[in-house]
Amino acid sequence: MSDAGYGLLDGKTGIIFGALNDESIAWKVAEAAHREGAQFALSNAPVARRLGSMDELAEATDSPVIWADATDDEDLASLFNEVQDEYGGIDFIVHSIGMGVNVRKDVPYEDLNYNWYQKTLDISSVSLHRIVHHALDTGAMNDGGSVVAMSYIGAQRIFSKYSEMGDAKALLESIVRSFGYRLGQRDIRINAISQSPTKTTAGSGIEGFNAMYEFAERVSPMGNASAESCADYTVTLLSDLTRMVTMQTLYHDGGFSSMGISDQLVEAMQDAFQNDDDDA
Ligand code: NAI
Repeated sequence: MSDAGYGLLDGKTGIIFGALNDESIAWKVAEAAHREGAQFALSNAPVARRLGSMDELAEATDSPVIWADATDDEDLASLFNEVQDEYGGIDFIVHSIGMGVNVRKDVPYEDLNYNWYQKTLDISSVSLHRIVHHALDTGAMNDGGSVVAMSYIGAQRIFSKYSEMGDAKALLESIVRSFGYRLGQRDIRINAISQSPTKTTAGSGIEGFNAMYEFAERVSPMGNASAESCADYTVTLLSDLTRMVTMQTLYHDGGFSSMGISDQLVEAMQDAFQNDDDDA
């Protein structure tokens, strides 16, 4: 990896949603996009101003910050008007937003609080639709642009503690396909990156996250993909090199999604069973 970057995003402008602190995937994406020559605005929910440290990232990447709740149409319309004033039009959008309200409050899947469930879907999935809608409606999105959203394999397979977030990611990936068809007519592409478990604020908010992380680490032939490597992959999808890739869920997971079990896990399980037998 070249520290100086490859100039993949020279001359491109965009907006990156979801950098809370320096562990956030969006934070690493902003650093990588800056390295590759992009100019962009950063956005997060107004409440994140108090909880996070985005102003620091804004200074390091020389980016304006626009506070907006991604579930609020007025906030988003005014955000894209502002972005258009700043850049005249944008070439990329990164959606790195998620929150499971029932998951956070430890409510089991079979007893979901439906108001919270709706909030989870609104924040984690419908926000992608709203963002793309307002980017088109305000005329801020340029032809030939690229949209990337962050997902997780819990959209396809059950990871018991991921609970309602599996539904949220399934909806997110469906919106990627449904909007992809429409955006293709303007040569705008949209994809989801299905990322390994990553130690961030949202990740660590999931009960059992450490077990999911360690399991995936042992099953994936290359180990878990870091937030930094996810950011490098993201910038390729924002660049012209991937201009014909759209409507996909793209696994960025060190090989996890093609695996069943690995020697490392077989051996760990054999040891655990042996210990159980010895204790019996
Ligand atoms: P993070 O906690 O750093 O980022 C989540 C962001 O969503 C935060 O910046 C938060 O302020 C923002 N957000 C929440 N509600 C919002 C709202 N109403 N309006 C605008 N922004 C709002 O955590 P992380 O892990 O970087 O999450 C980014 C994305 O990556 C999420 O979509 C997450 O589901 C996804 N992902 C995370 C994985 C992990 O293990 N950490 C694995 C696979 C995908």
